Amino acid sequence: MHTIIEPFRIKSVEKIKFTTIEDREKILEKAYYNPFLIPAEDVLIDLLTDSGTSAMSAQQWAGIMDGDESYAGSRSYFRFEEVTKKIFGYKHIIPVHQGRAAERILFTNFLSKTDENGNLIMTGRSKGIPNNNHFDTTRANIEFNDAEAVDLVIEEGKHPATIHPFKGNIDLVKLEEYIQKKGAENIPVIMLTITNNAGGGQPVSMENIRKTGEIAKKHGIPFFMDACRFAENAYFIKLREKGYENKCILEIAQEMFSYTDGCTMSAKKDAFANIGGFVAMNDEELYTRCRNLLIITEGFETYGGLAGRDMEAIAQGLEEILDEHYLQYRIRSTAYLGDKLTANGIPIILPVGGHAIYVDAKEFLSHIPVEQYPGQALVCELFRMGGIRSVEIGSIMFGKYDKDGKMVPADMELVRLAIPRRVYTQSHIDYVAEVFIELKNNKDKIKGVKIIEEPKFLRHFTSKFSLV
Ligand code: F0G
Repeated sequence: MHTIIEPFRIKSVEKIKFTTIEDREKILEKAYYNPFLIPAEDVLIDLLTDSGTSAMSAQQWAGIMDGDESYAGSRSYFRFEEVTKKIFGYKHIIPVHQGRAAERILFTNFLSKTDENGNLIMTGRSKGIPNNNHFDTTRANIEFNDAEAVDLVIEEGKHPATIHPFKGNIDLVKLEEYIQKKGAENIPVIMLTITNNAGGGQPVSMENIRKTGEIAKKHGIPFFMDACRFAENAYFIKLREKGYENKCILEIAQEMFSYTDGCTMSAKKDAFANIGGFVAMNDEELYTRCRNLLIITEGFETYGGLAGRDMEAIAQGLEEILDEHYLQYRIRSTAYLGDKLTANGIPIILPVGGHAIYVDAKEFLSHIPVEQYPGQALVCELFRMGGIRSVEIGSIMFGKYDKDGKMVPADMELVRLAIPRRVYTQSHIDYVAEVFIELKNNKDKIKGVKIIEEPKFLRHFTSKFSLV
């Protein structure tokens, strides 16, 4: 067995900017200790997200030049439709500008009805939508429509150090219980996020997908996949689930989607695109409703808010993501950082997931109480020490207040180091590990943060903080 190497060579590069600790202290203060408010130019290694940050291939760039920008029926749309239908297998594919637009269109339809005058009446109040874990925008698009977003990941998925091959699985017993309690008529759709981003980029097994589909069918509830990291999930199935070791990624993906009624997809992840997404389904009536809403808010159905060139890039990216040499490198290079951190005593979610390392900040900075957001404190210190940008996935992203205004913390306090696809080399990743080791030696001096300004929804993006 040879060393696993990058299955590409680099044709075009981008300069990154070096700053000093003093510079970065000023940058942090000016950004109110929120990584989303830091200008990207001031970041050395940007691990904020793997979304829209992939390096495109020469073939994708060629597709950009070749895009057909016709308003209706463009050639690029038909290529996009052909590739997505091959992999996902649904009857209808509606392009949108990114994943959350797909969520908005889908949930608006599931959480509303049309009255006799054709007006939309929102019906979300009594409704609930279960998932393994809803990611931030998914949750927000459900709660914004007054419905309940319910997380039912298996117990193992809530404990960073517990090893399980498919920590992203939904708890099937809890799902049945939830359906009994809530009533199938109040559950317009069951979702499953692959891989489970809020729970550590952890995969969902084929068996779990199939059984979720059976439960959904038994109760007459549509079953949709949040599919943005579907290829990474399929590769984990190939590695870890019996009976799939000799199947190719395309076959595994086709089987995964065959148990579902549709999906939402952010093409900014496993399609190597910088923008784009789609919502797809088999049901004719749902399709018509979604298409009509799309035309009001996103664009005509053969472009849905995208340029023809974007659809070319997505179609080409979806062909490339199925390459097992790529997926082997991808999963191994994420694990490489995880192994280095683990060897140096940094607590992370284990086993390592697909697109990111998730540091257990509650454990690592145990001197900082949850009310002072240990995850956000670590995010700030990583930037201060090494110019590395990461994101908190803990009580800032998912915490709530009870009716007395008391904080209800999230299950875990994590810091996500998301690895953009095909962007950083092994020495960039070695540097990240070095910064962590240095930071660990002085970690007791790290201070917590407090919120000084916050909006109601998706507060992590725009909140302002100060050091405690
Ligand atoms: N679903 C999941 C599981 C996601 O991770 C994201 C985005 C979305 C939906 C929404 O897609 O950004 O195209 O509107 N996640 C990014 C992240 C932003 O950093 O993990 P979008």
